[in-house]
Amino acid sequence: MSQMAWWQTGTVYQVYPRSFQDSDGDGVGDLRGITRRLDYLAWLGVDAVWISPFYPSPMADFGYDVADYCGVDPIFGTLDDFDELVRQAHQRNLKVILDFVPNHSSVAHPWFVESRASRENARRDWYIWREPASDGGPPNNWLSNFGGPAWTFDEPTGQYYYHAFLPDQPDLNWRNPAVRTAMYDALRFWLARGVDGFRIDVIWHLIKDDRLRDNPVNEAYEPHQAAINRFEQVYSCDRPEVLDVIAEMRSVLREYGERVLIGEIYLPIERLVTYYGPDLRGADLPFNFQLISTDWRADSVRALVEEYEAALPDGAWPNWVLGNHDQPRIAARIGPAQARIAAMLLLTLRGTPTLYYGDEIGLDAVAIAPHQARDPWGRNEPGHGRDPERTPMQWETAPNAGFTSGMPWLPITTDHKVRNVDALRDDAASILTLYRRLMSLRRDHAVLSSGSYRTITLSSSVSEEVFAYERVQADERLRIILNFGSRERQIELPGGRGWSILLSNQTGRTGVKGEGALTLDPDEGVVIADR
Ligand code: NOJ
Ligand code: MG
Repeated sequence: MSQMAWWQTGTVYQVYPRSFQDSDGDGVGDLRGITRRLDYLAWLGVDAVWISPFYPSPMADFGYDVADYCGVDPIFGTLDDFDELVRQAHQRNLKVILDFVPNHSSVAHPWFVESRASRENARRDWYIWREPASDGGPPNNWLSNFGGPAWTFDEPTGQYYYHAFLPDQPDLNWRNPAVRTAMYDALRFWLARGVDGFRIDVIWHLIKDDRLRDNPVNEAYEPHQAAINRFEQVYSCDRPEVLDVIAEMRSVLREYGERVLIGEIYLPIERLVTYYGPDLRGADLPFNFQLISTDWRADSVRALVEEYEAALPDGAWPNWVLGNHDQPRIAARIGPAQARIAAMLLLTLRGTPTLYYGDEIGLDAVAIAPHQARDPWGRNEPGHGRDPERTPMQWETAPNAGFTSGMPWLPITTDHKVRNVDALRDDAASILTLYRRLMSLRRDHAVLSSGSYRTITLSSSVSEEVFAYERVQADERLRIILNFGSRERQIELPGGRGWSILLSNQTGRTGVKGEGALTLDPDEGVVIADR
């Protein structure tokens, strides 16, 4: 086995900084709060923390509208707080991954302020400005991902500017070399401060069609979908030239050694895998969100894993994700019993796992009353709000679950007195204990990070509800058998050798040994070793 990089063997943990830990009582999480909780992350057993944006921002999209790529918003702290966070994280062997948002800035960014000042301004071409169509309307039919048109008319200069998201988030013109240089310098600013990598926001959006052609109508559009889906996003994103930009970014990171480039990409598998780039010079990890969109059934998930494994280019490293700050929480999607199967799947498939904060304590969606809604998308398009998956982390059986001494910016779950880290950490049956045991199993058995993957064929009577696979490396083999159903299942394991349960998501099953057939409880998942 060749030497593996830390981002291949390690586990990534996403922190949404507004919601992790508040340190100053303003009801919004901050960098000092994260630093205070690093011991928890080390105890849990993750290897890297990815922190969603904390740059200076008007917070129209809660930090995904950046007004300065090289600073810290006062609501989150200071650059000194950030340096301290990195120092403390590295002391605990935790890597730090930043969220970089190069596709668009805030309207408040000085670059955009200059760009909109006049048509002649030297930064005019840093953003995407176009003449109105002949009828005075927008230059083409592109829509905003958050509802409404993607073009906003700017009276004083008589042109439209393009924004894939809010009008407050104008898209930068990545065809302009000066923009690239400025952005790469921003990356270097953070790399020099010791950052271990970046998750790049909407990386497949960076380059738009050179002729800004209209997107074709999506014949399969259904009214429950967000309006953006009325058109196929063929010309507004996923353009071939974007791979050159990604390769450039990657080489900036490599100037600093083994730093990771993770790309946020929502595309079907066959397009997604092209983002590893020609000769694997693209993203180290094009985020694989397929588990979020696939039906939670053993046969669908098995088909997905096989399709993804088969589509990976030679040498490309896989990765898996169950959720993030833009998606309904896994426990809300599949329920508490199956959330434990999901944890086992995430941490035993081949590839880098990314955990979303709070999933390890089984956080559910929190009902948000209309007056509590904060997400701009949900305000534009009711039903699409992302507040339910962004509620505060729950730490203690204390008021506001120990998240803040003030008023939390979003409400806390009603079961927070029992669903919090303190209450679950010593409970052998808790989901938190399961997550922690899974990560410790990964550390003890290299086969789980670097071994090969193979599906185990089961009889047709069980394969609809049970997914089984093996991980093999040198002379070690582990088999993972996951019951996606709520019925007890008798599994005939091929090749009649003895087995012993290394880990089960049910209590009292670890260490159980047998030969041949194995009985799985409802919603049970096991990792078994040969004996
Ligand atoms: C993707 C981010 O994950 C999401 O939260 C944000 O709203 C959009 N990009 C726009 O930056
Ligand atoms: Mg605070």
